[in-house]
Amino acid sequence: MIEAELAFWNIGRLSTCHSPNGPKRGRQMADAGEILNATVAVADGKIVYVGNTDPSRQLINAPIWQDCAGAAMVPGLVDCHTHLVYAGDRAVEFEQRIMGASYLEIMMAGGGIMSTAWAVRAASQEQLVQQCLERCQEMANLGVTSLEIKTGYGLTLEDELKMLRAIEQVAISTPLTVVPTFLGAHAIPAEFKADPAAYTRLVVEQMLPAAWQWYMGSGFSKNGTPFFCDVFCEQNAFSLADSREVLQTARELGFKIKIHSDEFSSMGGIGLGIDMGATSIDHLDTATDSDIQALANSGSVAVLLPGVNFNLGSAHFARGREMIDAGCAVALSTDINPGSCPSPSLPLIMAIAARYQRITPNECLNACTINAAWAAGLGESNGSIEVGKNADLVLLKRHEARFLAYEFGGNPIASVYKQGVKIA
Ligand code: NIG
Ligand code: FE
Repeated sequence: MIEAELAFWNIGRLSTCHSPNGPKRGRQMADAGEILNATVAVADGKIVYVGNTDPSRQLINAPIWQDCAGAAMVPGLVDCHTHLVYAGDRAVEFEQRIMGASYLEIMMAGGGIMSTAWAVRAASQEQLVQQCLERCQEMANLGVTSLEIKTGYGLTLEDELKMLRAIEQVAISTPLTVVPTFLGAHAIPAEFKADPAAYTRLVVEQMLPAAWQWYMGSGFSKNGTPFFCDVFCEQNAFSLADSREVLQTARELGFKIKIHSDEFSSMGGIGLGIDMGATSIDHLDTATDSDIQALANSGSVAVLLPGVNFNLGSAHFARGREMIDAGCAVALSTDINPGSCPSPSLPLIMAIAARYQRITPNECLNACTINAAWAAGLGESNGSIEVGKNADLVLLKRHEARFLAYEFGGNPIASVYKQGVKIA
């Protein structure tokens, strides 16, 4: 007999998204590991049974049997690329873009990331935490049970540390699993405009060691959560050489690696990420055929962020279909931030990816669950419905998971469980 605290039965279609040894790549992404008429049982926050409903009544001893009435269940969604700690908004820039200014032009004129940095510098740690927690709940309502959060709006040693401490406070206060990323190399701050190399030196010589020291004293290192270093490799942000220096130093300290590459221009960041053994390489909008082939042959997850293209009013999207056909492991994420994608909704991202990147609903689901979990360093514990994993479970309003990508603009989520506890 399997002892459980709670069993969900009469799940019409269960998408397990199981992939125990790494992300799904290429053709595997079309398979969401569906079980019809399923039961999932939970004990101590973990999954203890996944299988058909009929035998489960005899196999499981549970005080609570929740009838799912034929609804679809999917793993808790994982948002593997967010800038969720921020202050202020960029609604003015939104209107400037409508009138024809580009994201990079606004950034070069002192707006963009730097305008959010002014707001973050002016905010207290408590204010950052409070606002971020509200966004976390909004994302939980949309099916998210785990997320990565980056710094990168402090851009001074003190303010980057304030962001890291805010991320830790958020992790303590939200039921969601949080993975921290240090992104001190997000923009050249206004103070260093005349000498950008000096800012890279500050990141390498002072911020990275301080961030690592913070991590070693934080709850994240104690509970085994990884710590990533990311860099924005882009014109007017960080050159290939600067990005390499930052990531190399980070890797030596013990960070896992991510890179924002090819959002607007190809600067060689994809090759750099692969060389560095990056866990994920993110954006990839200008990736070439040979980049796609190199990604397919690498261990890095290709994280696509089509909400950015949509938000910037671009008709161009990263070549998601070709990446999957070439054998890449693709994940999808919101990139939620006040500038390039002010949206908390992974279901909306799936809807965009399906239409503009020709990524099928099953592929979208794997991209927002198991592959995103691997991209966030959480693949062994999250992102799929398998015995032994966290009981992060999402019940849908509809009977089929493909409605997540098919319908859009509403909230397709009926209820959300984090480690067996209802959070939305
Ligand atoms: O992923 N590209 C760099 N960073 C973010 C944008 C952040 C911002 O605009 O505030 C991104 O798009
Ligand atoms: Fe980003």
